[in-house]
Amino acid sequence: MVNQNIVMHPTSITKKKRQEINRHKSCVLWFTGYSGSGKSTLANELDRQLYDLKISSYVLDGDNIRHGLNHDLGFSANDRIENIRRVGEVAKLFVDSGTIVMTAFISPFQKDRDQVRQLFEDHEFIEVFVDCPFEICEQRDPKGLYRKARKGEIKDFTGIDSPYEPPLNPELTVETEKHSIKEAANQIIQYLGQIGMI
Ligand code: PPS
Repeated sequence: MVNQNIVMHPTSITKKKRQEINRHKSCVLWFTGYSGSGKSTLANELDRQLYDLKISSYVLDGDNIRHGLNHDLGFSANDRIENIRRVGEVAKLFVDSGTIVMTAFISPFQKDRDQVRQLFEDHEFIEVFVDCPFEICEQRDPKGLYRKARKGEIKDFTGIDSPYEPPLNPELTVETEKHSIKEAANQIIQYLGQIGMI
């Protein structure tokens, strides 16, 4: 609920001016996929490649944000909804600042991803499906969390006892089982070039 007594304050340095200084546009690359699908690894590889190209970028990562800004949230459906809502708002601030921001969150619900999309102008929200079969993610189990979830030590684990809705119409799909992280990052850099983002 927005307080009627709070009025938005206009800023004199616009997003466009900030983008001109950076010499590239800004957007959010919204990675979504199962735990262990490669979202964080891919976002970090892309961040490194963009840095090398002197492009202003930043990664917002689920595990990290849940240690700070969202440390009060768990993994119930409502908490995940709030997690994604807050991250969407933070991502918008980064885009306003002229930055290419990458978000690495499971973000399991299509409705929440669509709501975040509504915060942005056309072409600013790029949904990237980090597509990796659930069985492979479970086999990878980089943090041992799937094993714990199977033993009942973690409740509401995505793909086990909490749902994941794959994107219906993502701008990009990267298959991390078939392609290396470098190849997947190259695919995204190419796409950013094609749409005139960088
Ligand atoms: S969500 O669904 O978007 O709100 O989740 P997210 O903020 O991305 O956090 C996912 C990371 O938290 C760890 N973790 C869990 N994931 C899924 N379900 C449960 N119950 C859970 N508990 C802890 C897990 O390491 C996720 O990290 P990634 O990077 O996705 O593997």
